[in-house]
Amino acid sequence: MKVLVIGSGAREHALCRSLSLDPAVTALYCAPGNAGIAEVAELRPVDALDGAAVSALATELGAGLVVVGPEAPLVAGVADAVREAGIPAFGPSKEAARLEGSKAFAKDVMAAAGVPTARSYVCTNPDEVDEALDAFGPPYVVKDDGLAAGKGVVVTPDLDTARAHANACERVVIEEFLDGPEVSLFAVTDGVTVVPLQPAQDFKRALDGDEGPNTGGMGAYSPLPWADPKLVEEVLETVLKPTVDEMQRRGTPFSGLLYAGLAITSRGVRVIEFNARFGDPETQVVLARLKTPLARLLLAAADGTLADLADLRWSDDAAVTVVVASHNYPGTPRTGDPITGLDAVAAEDAPYAYVLHAGTRREADAVVSAGGRVLSVTATGDDLTEARERAYRAISRIGLDGSQHRTDIAAKAATGA
Ligand code: AMP
Ligand code: GLY
Repeated sequence: MKVLVIGSGAREHALCRSLSLDPAVTALYCAPGNAGIAEVAELRPVDALDGAAVSALATELGAGLVVVGPEAPLVAGVADAVREAGIPAFGPSKEAARLEGSKAFAKDVMAAAGVPTARSYVCTNPDEVDEALDAFGPPYVVKDDGLAAGKGVVVTPDLDTARAHANACERVVIEEFLDGPEVSLFAVTDGVTVVPLQPAQDFKRALDGDEGPNTGGMGAYSPLPWADPKLVEEVLETVLKPTVDEMQRRGTPFSGLLYAGLAITSRGVRVIEFNARFGDPETQVVLARLKTPLARLLLAAADGTLADLADLRWSDDAAVTVVVASHNYPGTPRTGDPITGLDAVAAEDAPYAYVLHAGTRREADAVVSAGGRVLSVTATGDDLTEARERAYRAISRIGLDGSQHRTDIAAKAATGA
């Protein structure tokens, strides 16, 4: 099978890496890709937001499966365009991707499906904003309704900060603060059958100790030794299946990857958000542990045959990924700096630790930074402690002027604290 992956981040690098290891994949393409993905897939230029261009490329390549990685092309209807060209696409339709594209829509679906989530108000003017902030009290949770690359959410004890963010958004969701650890649970679905993957935990704040601003994610690990072993089953029954059923009932079935961002509160599991695609950086650790070949799984979701697929197989290994970000991320990042040490990681740390590229590009003989999150180092081990050691050893070989990374990814989980 020839597979085309759309996107250019570490998530797409992780997807391409797993697909490249699947014997069923006879040719692997990525568009537009990045400097690291070029080592496992053939890169093609494309405007990932242009459905006609993506489907034309897929047709030209003779692709038997197109995997649409990021949310923006999904929300723009790129998976629909590919399907209209008669090619199986992994990823929801434009209509179904609204589960991620609009937080207000997601709240409406959850209410209809009886899915537990934070109480919330949708506000469109300063009076409504003040009323909602007053109703919930601090800490305030204020979310831009639309896509914001993980940066549209402000959680703050400060009323003025909350009000300023809310009034800067056209439409805003203000909701109840949820206390408790967060879990990301992904499920692959064809719109009817739902297959959960293994849970992971993401670190959203920029700095150690969960300080600093929210980011797209600074690291992740899996499995979660502290989580209730029945968590996946519970979320499948109370969140994932009801949501997929409700989308089908509305005539806009959701197929592809349904990502539930969850808070494990004292009153039970609550959905923080849905995403309509693999999460980054959680994908890096979840795929590091998946033993089932990936192409067949994604194709089964795309062509509606997930019910026929055998149970997924998982490695008992633990996996940790640590993101290396540019100077000033998540603000306007500095780019164009050379990255050193990539060969040393490949020589010294493989196969237990490896680099997945996000914002990188090749310039003559050098690989240089080209975005906020530049790369992530993923490592596996017998347990989280070993995976952490391997990830941070590999990170210590990488040079990038002004770069930042968290030093405490999976630290608490590793020690059971
Ligand atoms: P989101 O983009 O909705 O995932 O929000 C980004 C981050 O903001 C989440 O990962 C949480 O850490 C935090 N957050 C979002 N909603 C809430 C909430 N209701 N209560 C507490 N924290 C939240
Ligand atoms: N890890 C957060 C996200 O992918 O949205």
